Amino acid sequence: MEALKAKVDALLQEIAGTTITDAATLEQYRIKYLGTKGIIKDIFGMMKDVPGPQKKEAGQLLNSLKVQAEAHYAAHEHLKEGAAAGGAQVTDPSLPAVPVSIGTRHPLRIVENQIVGIFEKLGFVVAEGPEIEDDWHNFTSLNMPEDHTARDMQDTFYVSQNPDWLLRTHTSSVQARILEEGELPVRIICPGRVYRNETVSARAHCFFHQCEGLYVDKNVSFADLKQTLYYFVKEMFGEHTKIRFRPSYFPFTEPSAEMDISCSVCGGSGCSLCKHTGWVEILGCGMVHPDLLRNFRIDPEVYTGFAFGMGVERITQLKYQVNDLRLYSQNDIRFLRQFEQVLP
Ligand code: DAH
Repeated sequence: MEALKAKVDALLQEIAGTTITDAATLEQYRIKYLGTKGIIKDIFGMMKDVPGPQKKEAGQLLNSLKVQAEAHYAAHEHLKEGAAAGGAQVTDPSLPAVPVSIGTRHPLRIVENQIVGIFEKLGFVVAEGPEIEDDWHNFTSLNMPEDHTARDMQDTFYVSQNPDWLLRTHTSSVQARILEEGELPVRIICPGRVYRNETVSARAHCFFHQCEGLYVDKNVSFADLKQTLYYFVKEMFGEHTKIRFRPSYFPFTEPSAEMDISCSVCGGSGCSLCKHTGWVEILGCGMVHPDLLRNFRIDPEVYTGFAFGMGVERITQLKYQVNDLRLYSQNDIRFLRQFEQVLP
């Protein structure tokens, strides 16, 4: 019994003096004292030599040794976590956090938000429609009957099971969706994705984005159209941007025009973007065709309206000098990260 006591005392001192600094020394400690072939297991073997009456005392002594050895282990157990996390050191909570990348908004979405935001300031309300459309909303109701040559301008993807269904070729289809609801006046801005059967290249894509605008009310004039778009352009490209209208043709408007702005890169003095003309085209527009209003049982003698449609990729190209349409859908992080600073 005396020998046992001396041994336990010596061991307790040894354990208290053992410094454990990392997961490796902790494991060495565990094997040495607490393992199945460890010292404590061994010493429990001495119990059989202790005479009967002293067995109880000896048992308590050894138990307290075991408890203290285990407590010393437990006090350092957190070192194992540090090792699992990749380092032998304890986590230092005062260190700066590892930055978490949260992603960035897509450039097209940034520009779409800007466009919509500007028109919202003028009282336009966002309206949306389906990307899978029917012939009526995408073409016929917009003054493009079946044999109309204007349909050739837009290479359409049809749904093979039902030739009346197609992927909308423009967001003008949303005009039809809203006008058929029959509530006037209407003042909407319609962003969305459109599809055309084009070979993908730097300058063309089989899907892209448009933003359509429509305002129908009593006494809406071309002057309203011009002033609205002029406001948009100055907000989008800066106070000094100039605009000009060129006569054009769209089946859904009469008269129709295409609008140019003074080049956003050179300011009008001439560069490769504007092909040295000083002007770049940004949208199509016009006064809503009376026949279109009649298609929706609106009296063109009472109501008039204007409409316009622009490509979001085009506006983004002019604002941020993106010169390849494919970049928008390639998910190249080096491209996307450049717009981080432009949020929101
Ligand atoms: N839908 C035309 C296109 O995709 C754009 C457009 C032109 C829309 C004139 C309009 C408009 O509302 O008045 O090319």
